[in-house]
Amino acid sequence: MTRARMPKLYIKTFGCQMNEYDSGKMADVLREAEGYERTEDPDAADLILLNTCSIREKAQEKVFSELGRWTEWKAAAPGRLIGVGGCVASQEGEALAKRAGNVDVVFGPQTLHRLPKLLKQTRTTHQPAVDVTFPEIEKFDHLPAPRAEGPTAFVSIMEGCSKYCSYCIVPYTRGEEVSRPLVDVLAEVEQLADQDVREITLLGQNVNAYRGPTPDGEVVDLAFLIACIARIDTIGRIRFTTSHPAEFTDALIEAYATEPKLAGYLHLPVQSGSDRILGMMKRGYTAAQYVEKIDRLRAVQPGIALSTDFIVGFPGETDADFEQTMALIERCRFDAAFSFIYSARPGTPAARLRELPAEVTKARLERLQTRIRELGATFAQDLIGTTQRVLVERRSRRESKNHLAGRAACNRWVNFACPAEDAERLIGRFVDVEITEAAPNSLRGQLATAVA
Ligand code: 5AD
Ligand code: SF4
Repeated sequence: MTRARMPKLYIKTFGCQMNEYDSGKMADVLREAEGYERTEDPDAADLILLNTCSIREKAQEKVFSELGRWTEWKAAAPGRLIGVGGCVASQEGEALAKRAGNVDVVFGPQTLHRLPKLLKQTRTTHQPAVDVTFPEIEKFDHLPAPRAEGPTAFVSIMEGCSKYCSYCIVPYTRGEEVSRPLVDVLAEVEQLADQDVREITLLGQNVNAYRGPTPDGEVVDLAFLIACIARIDTIGRIRFTTSHPAEFTDALIEAYATEPKLAGYLHLPVQSGSDRILGMMKRGYTAAQYVEKIDRLRAVQPGIALSTDFIVGFPGETDADFEQTMALIERCRFDAAFSFIYSARPGTPAARLRELPAEVTKARLERLQTRIRELGATFAQDLIGTTQRVLVERRSRRESKNHLAGRAACNRWVNFACPAEDAERLIGRFVDVEITEAAPNSLRGQLATAVA
């Protein structure tokens, strides 16, 4: 007896962690509805999904040239389908299907749960099926139960952003902020905990804006949600990303003081150290207000690892503005940063402003990145001799087979040797590792004790 061949799905993901999370959900939805198996080999696939990102650079053009590359793939076997999701799809909608010619399905970040319906539609009509609406939180009610892949997992707690920073496309592609109900988030965390997940990263474009409705008609914030998750015994570590400084509340600073399960790491995008530029960006805080929050955080947790985002070369940024950004870096001593050259996004208010010459922005970016690399190296050096709690995720990719790899609370990877007979048993557990060496992207250490 032969088993029917299950259809295969290849997903190519661009952009942020939200998109990675959404790609996982697309695979879950299609597995449940039609038995699709995910593959890493496009030639084995019957369906290709491009999960697109439009936050920077010529996103639309990139998608069209990417689609061009799949024309032959589609012609090579009958019935092959191409879908485009994510932020470019959300922005372009029908226009994308019309211009591309070989696209069968176009869906947005909020309509990925409707993929099975859209696929059926295009198979029947032989016309592209498009749905890039914003049916708010409905998506989460139609997703299959989460499937753990290892000891760490992401849980989306809110979608969208209502901050409307003047340069940013996100509010237009992902819609306004919508929070998931508290009980739904907790149920998802518990399902993951039952599958041996030990670390949860709460995910959202702006998780500080979490306003989760409760069954008795109240609304709870991120600090409350963290406290609830911390009560689940087997969850040993909690992270969240991404935060907005203007809404980084006292309750959250308090959580860093009182909740040992909250990882000693924070990603808090500042974008610029110049008040003039922060004002033009419509960020809603000054450099001094940002620094003040960092100072208070360090007062309750001195060793906290701090990372941030910068946009370099925002329209009108002068040398003096940039020097203020460099000064803020010295003041905050970030451990890591993502830095980007400003890129005008069509439809955003800042897109009307005159851009700076590329030589200027490139030189500034290089200077900033060099300094951040130095600070990161210092931070890593300072960890030598300390003992770090590490959640072991897998065998080390670079070292011999008796080396394990996991992340410390500060978010850095740690590699360490362990006795062959213990290796398998320690994956998925917290262990204490004494740090002995610091490389640019990872740390090396010696196993001290296995914790749990
Ligand atoms: N140009 C450059 N960088 C941008 N970001 C968001 N929009 C833009 C843009 N138009 C950066 C910000 C944000 C990160 C996710 O991407 O630094 O924090
Ligand atoms: Fe974009 Fe600003 Fe919202 Fe971040 S907070 S997603 S930068 S609009």
